[in-house]
Amino acid sequence: MMAQEKEVDALTGTETTGHEWDGIRELNTPLPKWWLWVFYVTIVFAVVYTILYPAWPWFNGYTHGILGYSSRAAVRDRIDEMAASRAHWVEQIETTPMSEIVNDPDLLQIATVGGRAVFANNCAPCHGTGATGRPGGYPALVDDDWIWGGTLDAIHTTVMHGIRNGADPEARMSEMPAFGADGILTPQQVSAVAEHVLALSGAGPDNEEGAQIFAENCVACHGELGRGNNELGAPNLTDQIWLYGGTKADIVHQVTKPRQGVMPAWNTRLSDAEIKQVTVYVHSLGGGQ
Ligand code: HEC
Ligand code: HEC
Repeated sequence: MMAQEKEVDALTGTETTGHEWDGIRELNTPLPKWWLWVFYVTIVFAVVYTILYPAWPWFNGYTHGILGYSSRAAVRDRIDEMAASRAHWVEQIETTPMSEIVNDPDLLQIATVGGRAVFANNCAPCHGTGATGRPGGYPALVDDDWIWGGTLDAIHTTVMHGIRNGADPEARMSEMPAFGADGILTPQQVSAVAEHVLALSGAGPDNEEGAQIFAENCVACHGELGRGNNELGAPNLTDQIWLYGGTKADIVHQVTKPRQGVMPAWNTRLSDAEIKQVTVYVHSLGGGQ
């Protein structure tokens, strides 16, 4: 560092600071005014913020700030607010009959959205995402083919008490006899009636002996025309929608030793409002009955 006298740099017309290193002189370019002001404002902001809000670590915790703000309390308030606003709707769902919920656009919307969430969490593992069913006896709930009935009340009962679960005394019950395994029909008769069942849905030529066996053993539950019976949970055999598959081997298997699908009861696991919501949701999927 050499001479300290300030002079104006000839090339840029800017004053120098007077500092010079090996012939290189430092220009004195002032900070832009706007930049300086922003800088001062941030300093003031920081000081004010520190006073108002929690800011600095301190010996026994941190400085709380004179506003007493806490993000945890803010979240708690939001949750309380949500619960309060939801409580209103939950109460509405609880006290309104389902037949009215489906005719009230606001309630219908809430029930459907809530029901979809309940379904995704509880029912999708068996009935598939989107309720399209799964092979092996888990029926699709999106078609208009119902084993136990597709009215709001029928679906509600099915969901409340479940099916053949042995846990709920009001569970849906009915057992197709094990015609083959229990020796009610011979394997040859089972084969014949299976062919008749295939013929019912137009999947093969009819079998006269099979038709006779069907009339004697099966119509009590599946109906004269094989269209099924919701009261007995006997599926429609004419619609090509199968719980357990529609090949001859599948049907022989079913008539020999029925699977008798089980669904848990939900009245011990879900609230009344949740069951109503999921019922309305499922009903809306299948077009209902
Ligand atoms: C553990 C598997 C399982 C779970 C979980 C389950 N289901 Fe089911 N569900 C079944 C089976 C199996 C059947 C068919 C039983 C039969 O053969 O009749 C069924 C049948 C039904 C039916 C009757 C369909 C008809 O055609 O009549 C409805 C409605 C239904 N389930 C709704 C639900 C809802 C809603 C949930 C969730 C709250 C649920 N299920 C959860 C296994 C399950
Ligand atoms: C006591 C009532 C009852 C009688 C009698 C009965 N079924 Fe069933 N059937 C059912 C029920 C309930 C189901 C539902 C599945 C289950 O429980 O295994 C069913 C299911 C079936 C299925 C499977 C349908 C599918 O979608 O996969 C076939 C096939 C069938 N029955 C054929 C017969 C034939 C053939 C006879 C006579 C030999 C017969 N059933 C007699 C109640 C009955």
